[in-house]
Amino acid sequence: MAHIQLNRPKELNALNLELMGELRDALKQLDADDQVRAIVLSGNEKAFAAGADIKQMAGKTAIDMYNIDQFSTWDTIKKIKKPIIAAVSGFALGGGCELTMLCDMIVASETARFGQPEIKLGVIPGAGGTQRLTRAVGKALAMEMVLTGRFITAQEAHQAGLINRIVPTELFLSEAIKLAAEVAAMSPIAIKMAKEAVLKAFDSTLEEGLHFERKNFYLLFASDDQKEGMQAFMEKRTPDFKGR
Ligand code: CAA
Repeated sequence: MAHIQLNRPKELNALNLELMGELRDALKQLDADDQVRAIVLSGNEKAFAAGADIKQMAGKTAIDMYNIDQFSTWDTIKKIKKPIIAAVSGFALGGGCELTMLCDMIVASETARFGQPEIKLGVIPGAGGTQRLTRAVGKALAMEMVLTGRFITAQEAHQAGLINRIVPTELFLSEAIKLAAEVAAMSPIAIKMAKEAVLKAFDSTLEEGLHFERKNFYLLFASDDQKEGMQAFMEKRTPDFKGR
């Protein structure tokens, strides 16, 4: 299990190009490391991240934005195969909210606030806020959040299905780490294929998704972990998954 902490506390972890580049590189490195089976991504107690860095973007032209193509970093993060758990306390706004939605599960503190306030800046979400949020919480709430910029509480986010659980603020990181450890005890190959299959549900027809799932299910019978998992069940012991 590995932990990455966004660390620009003075700017509430505003996601500038440097930070996003470092995050992408760190995630790629962890994805390639056999010792790591799950990743926790957090900010601090006050902010997960307050969005893309407004000061860095403010003076840019459309052509600057096109050339910088800041969201291409996000495409790489989207391809990380290992599970990523967001540990969120305080603000998760704009790109910060979008980053939590790029993660696979979200553990939030009671003080967490989620929002897409880009509309107040005269723009719209640019890293998935209109798409992933709508899929997660449905049209009514997504439309309200995107059109008014209203922040929602952890409670509302939980009711809407955006996050997995709410925990006392002092426990937000340790509970996320606990969840990551639970996932890390499973077969790493099965976990990667399971993540891939769940994500497939968002951009395929049901028929294509079911086909993809079935192929992965059959494919896992080529792994030692499948033999170990089923043998351990029959022997009434805990499996020891090796990731092969
Ligand atoms: N970019 C750059 N700097 C930011 C920032 C951001 N997104 N969010 C906060 N900061 C900076 C503030 O400018 C301030 O810096 P200074 O001390 O130098 O003035 C510092 O962080 C602390 O912030 P505040 O004083 O504003 O703290 P607060 O507690 O009063 O308010 C807040 C907190 C409500 C989160 C407020 O900071 C805020 O509204 N931030 C902007 C949120 C936002 O609009 N996010 C969307 C960005 S656009 C985007 O993300 C596009 C996309 O789709 C990827």
